[in-house]
Amino acid sequence: MNQLQEIARKLIDDNKGILAADESLKTMTKRLAAVGVESTLENRSLWRQIMVETEGIENYISGIILYDETLRHPLPNGKMISDILKVKGILIGIKTDEGTYKFNEGEETFTLGLDRLETRYKEYKLMGAVFAKWRAVYKVGKSFPSKTVLVANAIGLAQYALMTQRAGLMPIVEPEVLVLEGDHNIEVSEKATEEVLETVFEWLTKFKVDLSGILLKPNMVLAGKNNSHQPLIEEIVNRTIKVFRETVPPEVPGIVFLSGGLGPEEATTYLKEMNHRYKNKVPWRLSFSYGRALQQEALKAWSGKPENVKEAQKLFFERCQKVSAACS
Ligand code: 13P
Repeated sequence: MNQLQEIARKLIDDNKGILAADESLKTMTKRLAAVGVESTLENRSLWRQIMVETEGIENYISGIILYDETLRHPLPNGKMISDILKVKGILIGIKTDEGTYKFNEGEETFTLGLDRLETRYKEYKLMGAVFAKWRAVYKVGKSFPSKTVLVANAIGLAQYALMTQRAGLMPIVEPEVLVLEGDHNIEVSEKATEEVLETVFEWLTKFKVDLSGILLKPNMVLAGKNNSHQPLIEEIVNRTIKVFRETVPPEVPGIVFLSGGLGPEEATTYLKEMNHRYKNKVPWRLSFSYGRALQQEALKAWSGKPENVKEAQKLFFERCQKVSAACS
């Protein structure tokens, strides 16, 4: 097994998965505002410190994706987050994309950040990062995703994956179809997700990315939240796996889902059902790389108050435990 395959395996073995704590400044500001906390560097770091200091999470969490500022600055307790994670045996990941650029009359986006990637990787490696994440976003609708956005984002993901592997880091490839946004039915999401993944793997292959040294981070196939017919869990799980069977090569070691706006319970239940029905029947490990679904309950419980830290850590621990159990 080469080094990249080893990192990928470590991230998905033993029913463990990934915590996405790499919210950009803008996104983290929104998340903190929702619980009445001002978005200062101190508060953003404090929240991340509360999560990583939760005792025992290393039994469920194999890796954490961080945002640049969290890796760069000491936490409020004076320690570097990388030192805390190393002691716990949790692998360090870094968000490398630098947001999105609007085109098609502002309706669709492609992802920015390739320009300085090689230089940034030199620094991130010194700071302890061993894997990376790059997110491309796709809208679903009558004329979305367009052919142009499919190709533009697939090329971006392929360039990123190639550069990441060459730098010696394991790339998480994240093409996120915003399936919950809108009133479309589940068939529309299925078709969009299939087109996206097909194009992504076409370009990963063309760029000769080693597919055994990546993890795929996709959405589940869901109906738009404003559609009056909400599918049953079996349909969600079956359609999601059907799309992967048609598009994801067997060399890919693992699929780590994003939660994409699903609540913590839904994200946990869907993953559990996915593993219940398909574990060992598909070539890839089915695990998680959740942001909101892991953090939401704990962040709300904390709401910026020191007296709530214990309760927040308890809820965070329990959610990590439940999501990990959903992989078993
Ligand atoms: P969510 O689980 O909140 O969708 O976040 C995952 C992520 O990393 C988005 O880029």
